[in-house]
Amino acid sequence: MHLIMLGAPGVGKGTQAKKLSESYQIPRISTGDILREAMQTGIALGLKARSYMDSGQLVPDDVVIGIVEERLHGEDCATGWILDGFPRTQQQARELDKILEKLKMSIGYVLNLEVEGEEIIKRLSGRRSCEKCQSAYHIFFNLPKKDGVCDSCGGRLVQRSDDREGTVRERLRVYKEKTEPLVNYYLERGILKKINADGDIEQVFKRISSHMQ
Ligand code: AP5
Repeated sequence: MHLIMLGAPGVGKGTQAKKLSESYQIPRISTGDILREAMQTGIALGLKARSYMDSGQLVPDDVVIGIVEERLHGEDCATGWILDGFPRTQQQARELDKILEKLKMSIGYVLNLEVEGEEIIKRLSGRRSCEKCQSAYHIFFNLPKKDGVCDSCGGRLVQRSDDREGTVRERLRVYKEKTEPLVNYYLERGILKKINADGDIEQVFKRISSHMQ
């Protein structure tokens, strides 16, 4: 199973990708998580990515394409994968096609999650993430068992630096300009599934699962 999660920032790609990853036992490859981890550990990749991420811009194509290419060669990707947050530009999509051709793999479905703008702002402004393992929570919709503490690893829950209002607006603008055109790119190939991502996490997951038969 080879899946791509597409959709605006905060629409719920990561949340649903994690559930799919558990359900189908295939790895979730999140370029955002990989970049944030690199920022935390202070390696060169993280230092390079920080200024782009903190201002809501996309990290340069060559950087993220390299990350994904290396990751897709991992043994655990042999039986399937879920790309979460990649591709995000036409160039990334074209390069992904070339990488997959070399690996003799092909995209099964592109799941395009859709909700209206106000709901996205609500989801992003209330999001809290674990500073250790990056699990996502929400102050209204997805509470941890213990306030401020990650259920999975016990880490502290914090607000992502790019979830501040000004940066969120810029991320949404960049999404419209650079990533939304990919909807047509995959629609024309007949592999795009539009998912109504309104409603609670389980409802959305059921809708996605109904496309996986
Ligand atoms: P990335 O980490 O990929 O962020 P994003 O795409 O902006 O997506 P988000 O993680 O913000 O949202 P999501 O859709 O995953 O929603 P989530 O499930 O968390 O990228 C961050 C940055 O890294 C980019 O801006 C860029 O700089 C860089 N980057 C990454 N990939 C790149 C690439 N390919 N090229 C270049 N640069 C790249 O949900 C949000 C909240 O809502 C959570 O609190 C969750 O609990 C809650 N929630 C989820 N579903 C529901 C629901 N159904 N009902 C109620 N609440 C819900």
